[in-house]
Amino acid sequence: MNTLTSNLHSMLTTFYRPTEERYKILIEAKAFPSDHASIDPAKALLTVGPREGEPCLRTEDILKVIDDNKDIAVVMLSGIQYYTGQLFDMPTITKHAKEQGCIVGWDLAHAVGNVPLKLHEWDVDFACWCSYKYLNSGAGGIAGLFVHEKYANDTSRPRLAGWWGNQKENRFEMSPVFRPSEGASGYQQSNPSVLTAIALLSSLQVVAEAGGVEQLRCKSIGLTFYLERMLHQILADHFQAGHVKILTPSEPNARGCQLSLEFPEKMMEVFDGLYACGVICDERKPTVIRLAPTPLYNSYQDVYRAVTCLKKIMDKVYE
Ligand SMILES: Cc1ncc(COP(=O)(O)O)c(C=O)c1O
Repeated sequence: MNTLTSNLHSMLTTFYRPTEERYKILIEAKAFPSDHASIDPAKALLTVGPREGEPCLRTEDILKVIDDNKDIAVVMLSGIQYYTGQLFDMPTITKHAKEQGCIVGWDLAHAVGNVPLKLHEWDVDFACWCSYKYLNSGAGGIAGLFVHEKYANDTSRPRLAGWWGNQKENRFEMSPVFRPSEGASGYQQSNPSVLTAIALLSSLQVVAEAGGVEQLRCKSIGLTFYLERMLHQILADHFQAGHVKILTPSEPNARGCQLSLEFPEKMMEVFDGLYACGVICDERKPTVIRLAPTPLYNSYQDVYRAVTCLKKIMDKVYE
């Protein structure tokens, strides 16, 4: 329903209930701008970032910030960090934050369709995601929303309500009284776009045909491991010369498909070279190229070809 940013606003309207004692929202210092934009920085924002000289956050540091700040009302992190590709330890962080009395929400834009998610089991309160990354529904495609089933009949919290969130049975009675559907569907606001819903449905059918996310994740771990190995092997000279380094953690359980490569210099020249070779990746200025071998449609041969192209390009750019 809706788009990811509007769902974040919707969920914070419902779940962020500041009190004198608890009024802060904890996010990552380098979270996607939508996460920042949905919070008033002067009053409520608390950020957690990596240690000096480290690209990724340590779980222990996140837990410590939660322990040290008893005024946190909501912990809202991303499941996979869009820039570094780090997969957060969602079950551990959720459990810890809930024990401290926080509401826990996740921005799963880069995690959905990429890694298995057990939101109910982990006792997550809410989560939002878009469907145009690993769910392939096309840019601006319809987004998704999770609300834990324990809130199914909770009408005590405010919400950004709309007629499409009304119970299906009496939606067309056009009553001025809002009677929300149970759970996440009660947070729908508008009649969704049929075209974007169909694009998502078709993609979900392909994912299901491929065995689902758990199955895809097995191939994904292999593909990304192979990419990492090939990079270190084929580009060994460039790693040694400091032309490139990998920002993403190398433990498989701390990443999804994506590897973020940092090029301290000439990143755009390398990116343009890859693009010209037909390697579909993306750049995040100033220094990062994100490569994400996607198990649904990428092969080991694709990975090998991408790395050999990168080698040719880097030999030329840094000669
Ligand atoms: C982590 C993250 N959060 C939020 C967004 C914003 O999504 P939307 O444009 O659907 O609001 C994106 C989009 O790329 C994202 O990657």
